[in-house]
Amino acid sequence: MASAAMLNAPCNIGAVKFEVKLKPSPNLFCARPSVKLNRRRVLTIRASKEGHDNGSSSGPLRKMGLTDEECEAAVVAGNVPEAPPVPPKPVAPAGTPLVSSLPINRRPRRNRRSSVARAAFQETNISPANLVYPLFIHEGEEDTPIGAMPGCYRLGWRHGLVEEVAKARDVGVNSIVLFPKVPDALKTSTGDEAYNDNGLVPRTIRLLKDKYPDLVIYTDVALDPYSSDGHDGIVREDGVIMNDETVHQLCKQAVAQARAGADVVSPSDMMDGRVGAIRAALDAEGFQHVSIMSYTAKYASSFYGPFREALDSNPRFGDKKTYQMNPANYREALVELQADESEGADILLVKPGLPYLDIIRLLRDKSPLPIAAYQVSGEYSMIKAGGVLKMIDEERVMMESLMCLRRAGADIILTYFALQAGRCMCGEKR
Ligand code: PBG
Repeated sequence: MASAAMLNAPCNIGAVKFEVKLKPSPNLFCARPSVKLNRRRVLTIRASKEGHDNGSSSGPLRKMGLTDEECEAAVVAGNVPEAPPVPPKPVAPAGTPLVSSLPINRRPRRNRRSSVARAAFQETNISPANLVYPLFIHEGEEDTPIGAMPGCYRLGWRHGLVEEVAKARDVGVNSIVLFPKVPDALKTSTGDEAYNDNGLVPRTIRLLKDKYPDLVIYTDVALDPYSSDGHDGIVREDGVIMNDETVHQLCKQAVAQARAGADVVSPSDMMDGRVGAIRAALDAEGFQHVSIMSYTAKYASSFYGPFREALDSNPRFGDKKTYQMNPANYREALVELQADESEGADILLVKPGLPYLDIIRLLRDKSPLPIAAYQVSGEYSMIKAGGVLKMIDEERVMMESLMCLRRAGADIILTYFALQAGRCMCGEKR
């Protein structure tokens, strides 16, 4: 029975039921005992002629045979009805050592014995509603494959993107986040294209909202796709990233996105004080209903490599270590958490995901706010590469990695696997 080898994760989206079904592995099959443990016990009672002939009582019970009293009387008289015999003890393979059983009263394996028990006691579940699909867009008509991210494309904003969103919605993934590839000619040192109301992102948001009014659109708030320096902020001539001046630009960017119809603006820049400033700017323009998902703990990580290739957004010089966090730091995440909470963030994000599970758990335990995890490009590409090389089972590793992010405390997960995982949860195979 394949169910023994399934990782069951039932979940609901509205009235639709989803169950995570992963390919059974040969190992799990080997672990199955050869004898069925859960035999159905059937009590068979032969109907007596007497019962049928007796016309003194009527109703459904009479038609089935003996009355309860007659059955009890038969058993009391020693006339026990037939039932399947006690099943024989399953035989161990020849050579199995004969030992007396361990004197332990706690055997956790009892609760893992069957797929039904495992599903009943499963502590974490995942559904397509937990996923946010990051999508790369560009001005072109065609979709361009991204070399370092197999299966990902820079999508034409007018066609490819709209089709991809439709596919995601089909499997219950109704949240996306947009990342633009901006033409070099529009990049400047102050990134002003970021708040052009007719720029690629605002235009795309308007198109998507027109087609899918209930689609939830997250946007990235940071200057790097628009910066000729490839940094998230304005760079002074001595290389310093200017904090408050950058925040001024980010506020204008967030307002432009909100004006176009964004539901959640997501500052990923790591400047100080940007959440409070963006909140004030949104409110001043009448966008009280627009949420802020703050990249609270964003680390200066090498796992972003494929993403920067996708957007051609590598810093032209230096690195991002004066604003993104040191991967060696844990307590520092609490400093960022306190700032973002007090400045009014609605959702707190940790990035990258899998190497930073401890940070996800930290924020989950320290804050009542929803937590997001970003399974970044490098994490995605490693799983893809391992799958292509047949070193790992891509689909199982994908689903396990997402489940682990949930277990660590993430409510939502930004992942390039969103569509593939959504299909998997719907039982679709493609
Ligand atoms: C930049 C930004 C980055 C990512 C999302 N927003 C890269 C960076 O900080 O250089 C990375 C996402 C990924 O690697 O998947 N604002």
